[in-house]
Amino acid sequence: MKDWWKESASGVPELITEPPGPKSRAMHKNTAKYMKGLSSQVKLFPVCFEEGYGITMTDVDGNRYLDFSSGIYVTSLGHCHPKISEAIAHWAKKLMNAHDFTTPVKEKLMEKMAAVLPGNLNAIQLYSDGTTAVEAGIRAARAITGKHEFISAYRDFHGKTMASVSCAQMYRGEVHSYGPTRAAGFYMVPRPDPYRPLWTKNDGTIDTDAYISFYENFIKEGTVGNVAGFVLEPAQGWGGSIFPPDDFFPKLKKLCENHNILLLDDEVLAGMGRTGEWLALSHYNVVPDIVTFGKSFGNGFPVTAMVVREENGEALEKISASSSYGGNPMACAAALASIEVIEEEGILENVRTVGRSIMDRMNRMKEDHPIIGDVKGKGFLLGIELVKDKTTKEPFEEAGKLVYQKAFRKGLAWIPAGHILRMSPPLIMDEKYANMGMDFIEESISEVEKEFGYK
Ligand SMILES: Cc1ncc(COP(=O)(O)O)c(C=O)c1O
Repeated sequence: MKDWWKESASGVPELITEPPGPKSRAMHKNTAKYMKGLSSQVKLFPVCFEEGYGITMTDVDGNRYLDFSSGIYVTSLGHCHPKISEAIAHWAKKLMNAHDFTTPVKEKLMEKMAAVLPGNLNAIQLYSDGTTAVEAGIRAARAITGKHEFISAYRDFHGKTMASVSCAQMYRGEVHSYGPTRAAGFYMVPRPDPYRPLWTKNDGTIDTDAYISFYENFIKEGTVGNVAGFVLEPAQGWGGSIFPPDDFFPKLKKLCENHNILLLDDEVLAGMGRTGEWLALSHYNVVPDIVTFGKSFGNGFPVTAMVVREENGEALEKISASSSYGGNPMACAAALASIEVIEEEGILENVRTVGRSIMDRMNRMKEDHPIIGDVKGKGFLLGIELVKDKTTKEPFEEAGKLVYQKAFRKGLAWIPAGHILRMSPPLIMDEKYANMGMDFIEESISEVEKEFGYK
């Protein structure tokens, strides 16, 4: 089963017309007449996809691309994985919805999740998108602690419903100035970014303790003493694949315990194997109080989860597991099959091995390229930060856009954000194709450097 995608990947990329081709452009134009608020990635490269299999995607002009995005961190086990597609199809023909009654496939999923998750994270609710899982986590934290305030961090992203938006710093500036996006009792603090530290030690390295002291003081002075939870991504995905220093989460967890505050670990993007662990937080040997899953959890089928520790499970009675689509049989089948595939195909090991090799390559690229300020990542959650000058670290937004377009034109379907190039290949990808994708990116960076007179 492991190599199910290999034959279909042979010969990729295959470009018949210069992408985006004429059919893509026409279909995009027609769609965009009606569909508003499309992402900048779509506007910068208006391609129209109609097929995906394994690590490739094909557009309506017949161009076949190497996938370095997994949709948007979603189809992590490859497009249309046969085991997962069959599991969904089985229930699509048998039973599509049974509210939150038990179904055989739900029973199996519950047992499987409890078995793979660390610690005693085994009190579970199912939802149908990431933001509603985060909302449920926020309700759970209130129900468990009886408190109501929340602290999140600059550049975190947790979704687009109002409590999730209140924990995210995405909606700002002119583009998003549609009114207040932070509910009362939700606060933002800086979190450590090793490349752009706010506080450093004498040797110039990032000072985690200074961040923790700041939080300690903030809890005392900046809140009304009712903090229920810290809501954080284990690594900032949308923010640019930014991982904190290794000592950050262990120290933060201790701070939380001292103040009876829960740690809500939003693993919607980073969880389920993307970093080479079931939970990205496991890299730091920390077990959260509440965790959320989405995206890779159902490999493209909309299924998400919110999980708390066993001892807090009873508090979930107060927030009810009922939802129209959460935990429907197709959703449970998709999640169960995805977890089984991660186990059966040795996915975590592949992500660790290939991820390490890409990181080594990115470190070499950083030495060779004047506009690469920083490289970051674990497993297949990777980023390259482009700067105008390595000393001033001024973000190089224009270069980010051009590299994105150039690499796409070479046959790489991917999703950078601004000056940080984000890579999220499917977790099944082997070293050969990972290097092919990195070749397209490196060539594109070199071309942009030439255009801007760096080389
Ligand atoms: C960390 C994180 N949490 C939550 C969400 C929201 O998920 P959804 O778009 O499924 O609502 C996202 C989406 O990108 C995310 O990256």
